[in-house]
Amino acid sequence: MANKSVWSDNRFWQRSATWVTGFASLLLIWLTFDTMGQISMGNDADIQNGVTKRVPGPTVINYKITYEMSPTRGHEVPIIGGNDGKGHSLFKVKEKFFGRDDYSEKEARALLHLGKLGEQAKNCMDCHTLLGNGAYYAPDLTKAWLDPAWGANGPMQTMTGKNTKEEAMAEFLQHPNLYPTHARMMPDLGITAKEAKGLVAFLKHMSSIDTNGFPRNFGRMKGAVHGK
Ligand code: HEC
Repeated sequence: MANKSVWSDNRFWQRSATWVTGFASLLLIWLTFDTMGQISMGNDADIQNGVTKRVPGPTVINYKITYEMSPTRGHEVPIIGGNDGKGHSLFKVKEKFFGRDDYSEKEARALLHLGKLGEQAKNCMDCHTLLGNGAYYAPDLTKAWLDPAWGANGPMQTMTGKNTKEEAMAEFLQHPNLYPTHARMMPDLGITAKEAKGLVAFLKHMSSIDTNGFPRNFGRMKGAVHGK
């Protein structure tokens, strides 16, 4: 028995299993807390202090949001209120949202809440994908706000007869059957003007979330509406 190999010793395997399980448990606990920190929503104070949160506070709807290549990370990241030239948000450049760029945290939060309820009630995920959840029948909505089709040079403002991105999107959401731009048409879901405003705020906020460049190649699509 003196020469028994360590590999055939039961106690060696029992101890290894205990250590591995213990280490994995600690790692999972640490990762859980790390993730909670990463995905919890910021607030207006973060934005005022120039602190970039992965999920920015609701008042992000007062700012211009763009999607720009980060040279250090190798994919596009949401830039809020202007780029400092190094790929970080400045939180300075504002953009009117339905005529205002001074929504308080309370007002913005209420608007996003309305949008979230609308999104759940009308089941957008039956057809669309939001942050990786949902269906692929219709365009991914995670970065829909940044889709160039809604911008000043895109077709959607002209088509809906509106002068701003948010009004064009709200008009489309209320009467999608009037603006069929795809092989597939979005049905009229009976969305009211108030709900549409909340939904567009919800989509604008969602586009500001740093999703590590997901969905991939978004910036290189010619616009989801004219995806082909
Ligand atoms: C029954 C399926 C269906 C449901 C439910 C649905 N949509 Fe759509 N949606 C579509 C289709 C199909 C298109 C593409 C239509 C087109 O381009 O004309 C679309 C297009 C869009 C667009 C334009 C996409 C882009 O990238 O610019 C937005 C924004 C949008 N939907 C938002 C919503 C929201 C918000 C909801 C929930 C309130 C919703 N949709 C529910 C099918 C659906």
